[in-house]
Amino acid sequence: MSIFGLLTASLAEEALSNPVLGRAEAIAAGRDIYRSKCYICHHSAGARGPNLFATKLSDEQFLETVINGRKGTQMPAFGERLSPDEVWQVHAFVKSTDHY
Ligand code: HEC
Repeated sequence: MSIFGLLTASLAEEALSNPVLGRAEAIAAGRDIYRSKCYICHHSAGARGPNLFATKLSDEQFLETVINGRKGTQMPAFGERLSPDEVWQVHAFVKSTDHY
């Protein structure tokens, strides 16, 4: 989804949900992104960062956290490096399994 789409959806106060949840090709792409950008801190099931495979965040909260990061923590903002579609792919991957 484009940033414009995200803004429109949030203005309409609709909760965003992951449009590619459960799709094999999204899960495979998300696994690659996880390995290259997230594994270093989140490891197989949490390390420097929490275990993402057990996150209780909603789809929308997950997207928002990855794009904006968490100020004052080591969680970086990926908004310049990952598109919302790519974040959905990572989310589809972490929801598909309980560890890397
Ligand atoms: C430099 C280390 C680092 C990297 C790289 C990193 N994270 Fe994090 N992440 C953290 C830390 C530390 C936290 C905990 C922040 C806090 O204390 O709230 C976190 C928290 C999170 C949370 C919130 C989890 C929850 O249940 O509250 C999400 C979602 C997340 N990271 C996703 C990602 C994704 C996806 C990637 C890869 C694209 C990534 N992170 C890469 C360090 C990292």
